[in-house]
Amino acid sequence: MYPEKLTYDKGYERSAHLYDFFDTKKNVEFFCHYGSQAGEIIDIGAGTGRIAIPMAKRGIRVFCVEPSPAMRREFQNKLAPDPAMSKNMRLCGGDATSFDLGRTFPAALLSGCFDHFLDDNERLSALCNINRHLEPDGKLVFDLFLGLMRNAPLSPAGEVTVGDIEYRRFHGSKTLRGRKMEVVLIFERLLRGVVVERIEERSQVGIIGRKEVQKLLKESGFEIEREFGDYDFSPYREGDSLLIIEAQKRSQ
Ligand SMILES: C[S@@+](CC[C@H](N)C(=O)[O-])C[C@H]1O[C@@H](n2cnc3c(N)ncnc32)[C@H](O)[C@@H]1O
Repeated sequence: MYPEKLTYDKGYERSAHLYDFFDTKKNVEFFCHYGSQAGEIIDIGAGTGRIAIPMAKRGIRVFCVEPSPAMRREFQNKLAPDPAMSKNMRLCGGDATSFDLGRTFPAALLSGCFDHFLDDNERLSALCNINRHLEPDGKLVFDLFLGLMRNAPLSPAGEVTVGDIEYRRFHGSKTLRGRKMEVVLIFERLLRGVVVERIEERSQVGIIGRKEVQKLLKESGFEIEREFGDYDFSPYREGDSLLIIEAQKRSQ
């Protein structure tokens, strides 16, 4: 149903097994709030199920769309020990711009995914596709990082120890033409202090401002209800680098 793009690589294919070690954003409760309100939700760019699995454990039905084969594999591995969890969950391949679940839902979320849309065409196609998957007055909630436009040399971005293995991550970025940025992530695995493996991931992210996102939401049939600057529901303040938008599908 969802043909695998053999060329898919947005910077997760070699490091998906390390994803959960380093994504420690405290946003699971935030997104669960919307899932609980709606009872069922689409999680687009669901990754390893970091948010979807806790939702399903609370009895929320979660329909996940994830284009990366490696991230889906990690997700499936986490589901394997508890087959009962799968009854509240569906995971399929697909892209935000073109997935087709064949029905509508009361809510949708994107966590850490919107930044992957590289231009307004892609953003608008994704938002329109999500809109057509929502019931009248359905909710969309998503986060994005503003003010990413800066070159940054490779520098430490987290370390985790598991038994006698240590993992280190380094992050760097470079601005590209056309309001895009290249992001480089290096992961090192160390055994008793010696680097035994090094993984490099390169990806691109799109740069966008708040006003432009607001315009795209309007064009794709959404009304903004609330804007937050953090996952504790605090209101967005000018200059905040995290923007979280709660929007509603406009009635026709
Ligand atoms: C930063 S990760 C976040 C994963 C998960 N949502 C979380 O918060 O743990 C971004 C995810 O978005 C996915 N992604 C990237 N481009 C996408 C697209 N065009 N459509 C849907 N998902 C996409 C990636 O494969 C990746 O799994």
